[in-house]
Amino acid sequence: MNLVKVNITNGFYPINIESGRLDYLDHSIPEDATSIAIITNSTVGGLYGKRVRDVLLRTGKNVFYVELPDGEKYKDWITLNKIFDSLLSFKLDRRAVLVALGGGVIGDMTGFAASVYMRGIRFIQVPTTLLAQVDSSVGGKTAINHPMGKNMIGSFYQPISVEIDTDVLTTLAPREISAGLAEVVKYGLILDYDFWEWCENNVNNLLGLDEIAIEYAVKRSCELKSYIVGEDEKESGIRAILNLGHTFGHAIESGLGYGKWLHGEAVGCGLVQAAELSAYSIGFKETDVARVRYMVSSIGCPSKAPNFGLDRWLELMLLDKKNDSGEIRFILMKKIGEAVIQNVSNDAIEYVLNKTATGLF
Ligand code: NAD
Ligand code: GLY
Repeated sequence: MNLVKVNITNGFYPINIESGRLDYLDHSIPEDATSIAIITNSTVGGLYGKRVRDVLLRTGKNVFYVELPDGEKYKDWITLNKIFDSLLSFKLDRRAVLVALGGGVIGDMTGFAASVYMRGIRFIQVPTTLLAQVDSSVGGKTAINHPMGKNMIGSFYQPISVEIDTDVLTTLAPREISAGLAEVVKYGLILDYDFWEWCENNVNNLLGLDEIAIEYAVKRSCELKSYIVGEDEKESGIRAILNLGHTFGHAIESGLGYGKWLHGEAVGCGLVQAAELSAYSIGFKETDVARVRYMVSSIGCPSKAPNFGLDRWLELMLLDKKNDSGEIRFILMKKIGEAVIQNVSNDAIEYVLNKTATGLF
């Protein structure tokens, strides 16, 4: 079993990483919890819902079950309200605990629901996609989408623990593994050259879900994310580097319509664009741009962005939450393993979009 601690204002919470972890979820429920509500979706619920419910029933507490429709398009007010309808009809009180069983969509929505239900109740993240295991379940960002922007309505609200069972990745579609790997390699690019090199040498093991490789990649990603969250829980500074590639990626997702490309696929492509922008603006080596492009293709993500036209691209990127007073802020790389946050010239943006946003959509 691997344990990673996330330091937050009032102490820390554990990330427990273990093959077969689902079978020990009862151990993570606090003694004083009055009841438990599993929040999941129809896909994950069908695969793991009964197993998780049976394990949680071993606590002797009431276990309720809420199954939402599956998909990014349901990460909205209407579906969020269904969670509240269920919690209120179950008469859950302030000592109830929510268990988010699913990918990033379920984790983000459950976290948001927990943050406002009766002004805040405890919740546990049980991430079941690679992307959720290495990124979205850690660090307390919760949100739903608004038609005018992704993740625009939300809160910072930390779980009481993150319980990661790497075995559940075997039922994921290969495309979802590729999307998760984009976030994994991102950590190497922003913080850890050795981890980046390890990823370069282990692409096939990762794509093949080799147990040792996947467990190491999940653990190292969680360690790197926890380090940043511990330094800057509410993203007043350094945490923004976790968004390498995301300014481009979010623009792709909303420009194409949510769900056409997976979040991780858009981030993968955004890593190539961020590498090009870093080369143009702050001297990131061209040979390293080529390494990033090769990695993104090797893990199965697109490396050519859709051609929305310059004006539409700028309009889409201006919606990003990192922006300050109407200026687009980018995360750039000085070299592999070291990221910086800065504004760039319009020339640089135009150059990079002309070079990278050449795909059909
Ligand atoms: P997702 O939650 O939509 O899951 C992807 C698909 O895989 C879904 O169809 C889901 O039902 C299915 N699935 C999940 N686990 C499965 C399993 N073990 N076996 C088979 N199918 C399974 O997508 P995601 O990529 O996990 O998360 C994307 C979301 O996460 C986006 O909404 C994004 O904004 C958010 N996100 C949040 C943060 C954060 O810090 N909070 C960070 C990154 C992304
Ligand atoms: N996914 C970026 C962050 O958690 O800050």
